Amino acid sequence: MSILVTGGAGFIGGNFVLDWCSLSDELLINLDKLTYAGNLDTLATLKGRDNHVFVQGDIGDKTLLAKLLKEYKPRAVINFAAESHVDRSIHGPSDFIETNIVGTFNLLEAVRAYWNDLSGSDKQEFRFLHVSTDEVYGTLGETDEPFSEVTPYEPNSPYSASKAASDHLVRAWHHTYGLPVLTTNCSNNYGPYHFPEKLIPLVILNALAGKPLPIYGDGQQIRDWLFVKDHCAAIRRVLEAGRLGETYNVGGWNEKTNLDVVNGICALLDELKPRADGRSYAEQITYVTDRPGHDRRYAIDARKIERELGWKPLETFETGIRKTVQWYLDNQEWVQNITSGSYREWTAKQYGA
Ligand code: NAD
Ligand code: DAU
Repeated sequence: MSILVTGGAGFIGGNFVLDWCSLSDELLINLDKLTYAGNLDTLATLKGRDNHVFVQGDIGDKTLLAKLLKEYKPRAVINFAAESHVDRSIHGPSDFIETNIVGTFNLLEAVRAYWNDLSGSDKQEFRFLHVSTDEVYGTLGETDEPFSEVTPYEPNSPYSASKAASDHLVRAWHHTYGLPVLTTNCSNNYGPYHFPEKLIPLVILNALAGKPLPIYGDGQQIRDWLFVKDHCAAIRRVLEAGRLGETYNVGGWNEKTNLDVVNGICALLDELKPRADGRSYAEQITYVTDRPGHDRRYAIDARKIERELGWKPLETFETGIRKTVQWYLDNQEWVQNITSGSYREWTAKQYGA
């Protein structure tokens, strides 16, 4: 028995792979292109483990996919691979179209050909799980109900539009070809191994480096934060017991404004690693130009996955953010290895000198 995971050297995929390999002996084949966001250091503790095979490659490469599927005969494919950063999608959408749409299409076609050739219980029990985002639903007003599985899609950024397109392809491959698919739409994740282009790791690392903490616009935008290990547990549960063709919203019931998140991180750092001058890290907060088309509020109604599959997040924002800040303080080597070269080019482009 084995499973094939794509994008397993990224933030969520990497956490999923680490958890899977410590919880199970089942072989996991990890296909990742190793873009700027993919990092083998995240998987360093798996060295020598015989239930993890890493393959560098593209989800758009149908020949490679056919070979891997034939060789390993996985019982499931879990698709994490994507271009995932909204700001990068605004600067340059083409990689998002290529990987998130065309790549998912090629992956679906390779998996469909493989699944068609299966028979009996192998065919019946096979699953394709597509990992997606709450951003496909667009933005909420202050008093709107949180996104549920029947909220209409209204993506606003090149990133969310490309993820919405991939969700539609997955849905159509089930409806038309019968491919046994499951889709999860999750809110903002945070936790260990998060690439520091995203708000939470960026703020932790900039604070420690004495740099500005950039807040887009008025900082009153709201996100619904989920600790990454809780997301990984939700995916395992959906894979195990999700109903075919269904989508499941996954969220943390943790709506926070960006300013509250950043102030919270500053307060934790003030406690765990006080500034040499005794002042608060919050003094480094700097308001910068807003993100174009910035979605104001995301919030997830996660009652379906709780009701049908019994999944609930284990971490509150307070416990999860403390673990996260501590993890970055304890893992400076991982941080230093990724904050050079192309990372510096990105921060210069996005935030200026
Ligand atoms: P990430 O950017 O940290 O990692 C993406 C990984 O995919 C990287 O390892 C990268 O090398 C790999 N990859 C990119 N293009 C590829 C390709 N063409 N072929 C193979 N591998 C490729 O992303 P993440 O934050 O871990 O997100 C993982 C998935 O979860 C994405 O599909 C994203 O849309 C979704 N998601 C993310 C969040 C979040 O808060 N980060 C929330 C909900 C859903
Ligand atoms: O909602 C799920 C999505 O969450 C995922 O699908 C995406 O892959 C993931 O990147 C994330 O998207 P966001 O755009 O919400 O995350 P980001 O960390 O980039 O930004 C969080 C909020 O913080 C957002 O309102 C923009 C703001 N922000 C971000 C950065 C990087 C700032 O104010 N300053 C910053 O420097």
